[in-house]
Amino acid sequence: MRNKISIIGAGFVGATAAHWCAVKELGDVVLVDVVEGMPQGKALDLLEAGPVENYDLHIVGSNNYQDTAGSDIVVVTAGLPRKPGMTREDLVVTNGNIIREVMENVVRHSPDAIVILVTNPLDTMVYLAKKVSGLPRERIIGQAGVLDSARMRAFMAMELDVSVENTHAFVLGGHGDEMVPLPRYSTVAGIPITELLPPDRIEAIVERTRKGGGEIVSLLKKGSAFFAPSAATMQMVEAILKDRKQILPCCVYLEGEYGLNDICFGVPVKLGSRGVEQIMEITLTDDERAAMHRSADLIRSSMAALEV
Ligand code: APR
Repeated sequence: MRNKISIIGAGFVGATAAHWCAVKELGDVVLVDVVEGMPQGKALDLLEAGPVENYDLHIVGSNNYQDTAGSDIVVVTAGLPRKPGMTREDLVVTNGNIIREVMENVVRHSPDAIVILVTNPLDTMVYLAKKVSGLPRERIIGQAGVLDSARMRAFMAMELDVSVENTHAFVLGGHGDEMVPLPRYSTVAGIPITELLPPDRIEAIVERTRKGGGEIVSLLKKGSAFFAPSAATMQMVEAILKDRKQILPCCVYLEGEYGLNDICFGVPVKLGSRGVEQIMEITLTDDERAAMHRSADLIRSSMAALEV
């Protein structure tokens, strides 16, 4: 039997996620949105690309959660994106209301699904989704760290003029300007960038990574990034569906790990068929740990705006 992947929110991130899903033949796709006709139109368009691209899947669009019933994975991208000058936190109340409604419908129709959230402000939305859905922490995961690490890898490859394939990066913490890129754990062909670049160049890469989302928002002027966010999401979907046991930075509910409790936060996890199969606790320097806690403090102030 084929996997069933539902994507809630058929906007830029959702529709592009559906596209990666089809190209990688990860499973049948259901695209859901509140706008009538739009998810149906995008799904049909994507289906009609199948004969050219050689994928053979069911792809449907819908305004009805009944069509998502029995999904293996649900990706949630419903919600507003940022406009220039906005922080992700400015979206907390509006997107919070959308996430409440979406999660209620998702769990009603797919109680056993693994849910991946993309909607911003990410860490706060994952916390809200976990609380309103009651899902175990293994099955409610936020996408942010894979994207932030991909951005850092792209900047490292540009700086050193090497293949992105040679790069690995770890960006932990919250998905905001206080995210925590870790140069000591970011490597080129296995060599930490702290041995390859002077401190000022590393700081420039760290800063550009932190502001990576904002850089795209100000270039686009309308809407936010969607190619890299959806690609990052699909890496997580693939790791789960293929039980790859891949170590990726993901936003998960913490119960004491890294000295943090009752918060959703970006840490390295092992992703496999059961969702989050392990939370990895890597050693941090005092400075790195302090940066993690600063980032967590910001998320807690955003969480305070929600009544959960
Ligand atoms: N149920 C389903 N879909 C909804 C709902 C809802 N209650 N409310 C809004 N939507 C849909 C919108 O109709 C829109 O099609 O969510 C979609 C969002 O798409 P875009 O506006 O194109 O935004 P996008 O760029 O895809 O970003 C979505 O992901 O990266 C984050 O910050 C970003 O929070 C934003 C989200």
